[in-house]
Amino acid sequence: MAKPESDLMDKIVSLCKRRGFVFQASEIYGGIGNTYDYGPLGVELKRKVKDAWWKAMVTERPDVVGLDSAIIQNPKTWEVSGHVGGFSDPMVDCKKCKARFREDKLADARCPEKPSKRPGECDGELTEARAFNLMFKTNVGPVEGSGSVAYLRPETAQGIFLNFKNVLESSRVKPPFGIAQIGKSFRNEITPGNFVFRTREFEQGEMEFFVPPAENDKWFEFWKAERFDWYQRLGIRPEKLRLRTHDDDELAHYSTGCADVEYEYPFGWGELEGIACRTDFDLNRHSEASGQDLRYFDPETKERYFPYVIEPAGGIDRMALTFMVDAYEEQQLEKDTRVVLHFHPEIAPITVAVFPLVKKEGMPERAEEIIEGLRRAGFSTFYDEKGAIGRRYRRQDEVGTPFCVTVDGDTMKDGVVTVRHRDSMEQERVPAAELAAYLAEAVRSWKRPA
Ligand code: GAP
Repeated sequence: MAKPESDLMDKIVSLCKRRGFVFQASEIYGGIGNTYDYGPLGVELKRKVKDAWWKAMVTERPDVVGLDSAIIQNPKTWEVSGHVGGFSDPMVDCKKCKARFREDKLADARCPEKPSKRPGECDGELTEARAFNLMFKTNVGPVEGSGSVAYLRPETAQGIFLNFKNVLESSRVKPPFGIAQIGKSFRNEITPGNFVFRTREFEQGEMEFFVPPAENDKWFEFWKAERFDWYQRLGIRPEKLRLRTHDDDELAHYSTGCADVEYEYPFGWGELEGIACRTDFDLNRHSEASGQDLRYFDPETKERYFPYVIEPAGGIDRMALTFMVDAYEEQQLEKDTRVVLHFHPEIAPITVAVFPLVKKEGMPERAEEIIEGLRRAGFSTFYDEKGAIGRRYRRQDEVGTPFCVTVDGDTMKDGVVTVRHRDSMEQERVPAAELAAYLAEAVRSWKRPA
């Protein structure tokens, strides 16, 4: 029987630790509030999510180029972008227990001392709301002081705007075109939580798509549809996704439209990615403040203008969490229950595991040869010779490995291996010489089971 959704996050957190996806950061020192490290399987999952994002956003597009900008930029960047003055949440403190809460999220918050009560409804009185800036401050160079203050970037987007002119001048691009980057961002979130959903250090995949202003609406529609579809192409169940258009009072003052791709997590609907119309706000502001002309000159029309920007911006950690939550299933079989992650093979941390049926008769050596061939063909592989074959399959099901290959006595005679499919548990006999091509096709044609 399917387990209630409320258990699901606990099960995912426990699976992540047990199988090496995600660990609490600095665990041996008691951890550090809502900060996580990715273990051997987690780092593979995240790397594959980033690869899939980069492939869809850059490699497969003729009109998008990549960038990797610095985390610490000139602090003027954040004054001009509005983050120093405005990147803040209204916070209230409890005068009794000193806990701090977002004023706009009080309805969902709990008193840490009396979790059955909301803040302010317990014995503690709340302060007036005060703005709390979310940027992490640091100092550049050996001297601490106002002259050396710098910030860890709270979004990767500004690095793209700062390099707009460099990219225009060094690459053959003209609007409509995009600049994409993946990188770490930092926000001193007051209420991080729900595992890696909201943390203080996280990775973003952002793309600024620069368009002639008259084409703004067309490209907004295009990127909303494209980003919504991307998640489904990678196997997310459509009924768990929705595109929510922001109301006017949710929009930043410079924005003319925004929509979020939302996912129905075990803790409710949450933002996975935002697609925003940023107009020419950022280029315009940086142009004015730096004295550099960041307008695009169109050699055909002889017109000089600030392009408008459509920005798809998603969190890589949130994507990885979403793929895990969505892939998780406890399947009731005849004799027992199996835990299986139905990852799309493109993002599964391990694509193929290879097992010798027994540790003798030359099977381990033959299995090693086969796995070496698969590694050279570019597959992420795992070798396992310990325990009963059924248990080895189950261990791979639990981490989402879509294919297992077994070398048995027949293989030693006829060169044919058994390929076992994670989702259907069906087995097929495939000549070892054709294995790489067979698996490549199975990855390409994979469909999520109904
Ligand atoms: N440049 C626009 C921008 O940064 P955002 O909605 O603040 O927009 C984009 O962030 C995405 O980054 C979010 O949709 C979310 O997936 C991810 N994100 C934002 N804050 C996060 C946090 N504290 N922890 C994890 N992911 C976060």
